[in-house]
Amino acid sequence: MEAAAVPRTPAGIAARIPSPVEEVRDERLGGVRLLLKRDDLIHPEIPGNKWRKLKYNLAPGRVLTFGGAYSNHIRAVAAAGAACGFETIGVIRGEEHLPLNPSLAYAVERGMRLAYLDRSAYRRKHTPEVIDALRAEFGDFRLLPEGGSNAAAVRGCAEIAPELDAQLGGRYDLVCCPVGTGGTLAGLAAGLPPGRRAIGFSALKGGEFLDDEVARLQREALGRVTGDWRVECGFHFGGYARSTPELREFADGFAARHGLRLDLVYVAKMMYGIFTLARELAPGTVVVAVITG
Ligand SMILES: Cc1ncc(COP(=O)(O)O)c(C=O)c1O
Repeated sequence: MEAAAVPRTPAGIAARIPSPVEEVRDERLGGVRLLLKRDDLIHPEIPGNKWRKLKYNLAPGRVLTFGGAYSNHIRAVAAAGAACGFETIGVIRGEEHLPLNPSLAYAVERGMRLAYLDRSAYRRKHTPEVIDALRAEFGDFRLLPEGGSNAAAVRGCAEIAPELDAQLGGRYDLVCCPVGTGGTLAGLAAGLPPGRRAIGFSALKGGEFLDDEVARLQREALGRVTGDWRVECGFHFGGYARSTPELREFADGFAARHGLRLDLVYVAKMMYGIFTLARELAPGTVVVAVITG
């Protein structure tokens, strides 16, 4: 594990970059070597892929973004706004419930203004009609999509692989990450050197559409679809934010053996998938799991 470097980024946020790499030794992996890219340690309030995605989205001015009432993205944008001194507006799906839940209370403490859209308006959140109404209410803003996946986010996530190359001297074969909107995988895969591949594990049921999303995001950011990647859809455990006793048991066992509690919504699903797919990989294969939060 590398020393904890904490440089200040141009945006003024102290971040632990490069994030550390740690090896997991586990007999259940057979002959496969598993390394964890600990992006969860990048920043206490803007961890993992949140920091990667926000890095090139941070600029002075007013930012408006969307999310559910428990969204980690909303929290991270509020924290980034407070750290960098720009205004943030969070548009939340559904009605206001008082007192605010801990996520939204945290966002407000960090200076975020909240607005609410009922579920039908929320589904139309990217239409000119809804955006114009929000501009009439809040003035001009930069719009960050739900989940923060846009071209700038893809460029931020494309820095994961060059970091790994420097840390591991290129000695890895496969890099894995969880997938929600596809931005992290789009960037991760785009940054890979030739001969390395990426697998994204969908945390959503019916994630087959994510191939198109990842390709769309790569085209938007880089003008082309690039990198050797695929989305694995067999480890959603019932769908977004769902889990099963089997997944929870796996995460408990992983925490007991390795001292790391995996986030059940995304990271534990990826890790379960890696442990399953490891049975099919050649002994000696080096797999890197990006701990995205
Ligand atoms: C911890 C964690 N991992 C992975 C993801 C999925 O990333 P993406 O939406 O870029 O596919 C998210 C959602 O943003 C997340 O919170």
